Amino acid sequence: MTTAKHDVITLDGPAGSGKSTIAKRIAKRLGYAFLDTGAMYRAATWWALHQGVDMNNAEALVASTRAIPLEMEERSEGLYVGVDGHDVSQAIRTPEVTNAIKKLDGIAGVRAKMVELQQHIGTQQPTVADGRDMGTVVFPNARFKFFVDASLEERTRRRSEELKSKGIQFDAEALKQDIHIRDENDRNRSIAPLRPAEGAHIIDTSAMNLDEVEAQVLAIIEASL
Ligand code: DC
Repeated sequence: MTTAKHDVITLDGPAGSGKSTIAKRIAKRLGYAFLDTGAMYRAATWWALHQGVDMNNAEALVASTRAIPLEMEERSEGLYVGVDGHDVSQAIRTPEVTNAIKKLDGIAGVRAKMVELQQHIGTQQPTVADGRDMGTVVFPNARFKFFVDASLEERTRRRSEELKSKGIQFDAEALKQDIHIRDENDRNRSIAPLRPAEGAHIIDTSAMNLDEVEAQVLAIIEASL
């Protein structure tokens, strides 16, 4: 496939839909860079918590996000995320950070900074961008847009499997409730709510495995070339 420097493929969808894994696989297959924008919101949240910013003070959260010394790099062992010299690749995935993201992700100034960074990164090289508002806000002119969805039950089941495989204890009902709360937050945000972008291919992965989803995404891309 012929690619241009500014080629972008967007994958949006709710937590646990498998979009990150698919985005990574597609990027690898096409030789594109992978942009994990959830990691950016996570890093901004970690940074605010680390600095002791008042998580209810929108102005302070905007200021800390605007000044974030963020580094992201794809490495063989996975995505490296650094903030001010700290390796936060794992720390940004803790429940403490995950639950605090909602304090930032609805703030216009925070999102504006993120959009600016994301658009800058996305124009450096062909990119597969994964998030919530990639096709709707950040890259509305993307060459291909996908909306990857799955039922709440299936997403909860996948997350349970992941936690079990890591030997992490959890309460199944609380896990489902947490995912449901994140859905509500993502979908009902007044700025950049989660929804399929115009022209997005919607893929319901509830009854599909990752290989099937990857094949479907690649088939759509190849069919339109
Ligand atoms: O994809 P993820 O679970 O790592 O994303 C973490 C949170 O960041 C998610 O709950 C909502 C927010 N987010 C966002 O608001 N916009 C994006 N483009 C990506 C993530």
